[in-house]
Amino acid sequence: MNGITLIGFMGAGKTTVGKLLSEKTGMAHIDFDDKIVEEIGMTIQEYFDLNGEAAFREKETKVLKKYIDHNYVISTGGGIVMRQENRELLKEMAPVVYLETTPEVFIPRLKNDHTTVRPLVVSKSPEEIKQVFEPRITFYKEAASMIVSTNQRTPEEIVEEILTNIE
Ligand code: S3P
Repeated sequence: MNGITLIGFMGAGKTTVGKLLSEKTGMAHIDFDDKIVEEIGMTIQEYFDLNGEAAFREKETKVLKKYIDHNYVISTGGGIVMRQENRELLKEMAPVVYLETTPEVFIPRLKNDHTTVRPLVVSKSPEEIKQVFEPRITFYKEAASMIVSTNQRTPEEIVEEILTNIE
C-alpha cells in the first residue's frame, strides 16, 4: 500500500486519525507540524511571531517536497493547501484524504485544545475562525483524492471508511 496523507482544517482530527491509521496499517505516522518544529527549533507560534506566516509556508513546502514519495501515514498542517504549489504536489501523492468537518464541530474543539497554540486561531472569534476556514474548502477538495466526513463519527469509523475506500 502507498502511504496515506491526511489534509483538513485545524481540529478535523488529522493527528488522532493519523495515529489510529498508523496502528491499523503498520505504517509509521509522521506529523508535518512536528517535522517543522524540529527544523525551526521553536514553537510554531514563536516562528509566526518572528518571521510571519509566509516564512512558515516556505518551511511547509520544503517538508512536503521531502515526502512526495512516502510510505507513511502523514498528518499535514491545516494550511498546507494554501499554496497552489502544495496542492499540485499533494495531487501527486494520492491517496490524499480530506477529513471534512464543519465550524460547529471544530470551533469548540479548538477552544478546548490547550495542548497546541495555533497562531491563526488563538484569540480569534468564532466568526474570524470561519473566515480562515471558508476560502480553504475548495482548496482541500482540489488537493484530495478522497473526502471523508468526520462529523458525528468516531476515529475508528473514519479509519474504516478510509481503508475500505483505498482497498
Ligand atoms: C495551521 C494549522 C496548524 C499549523 C499552523 C497553521 C493552519 O496545524 O500548521 O498553526 O494554517 O491551518 P494543525 O492543522 O495540525 O492544527
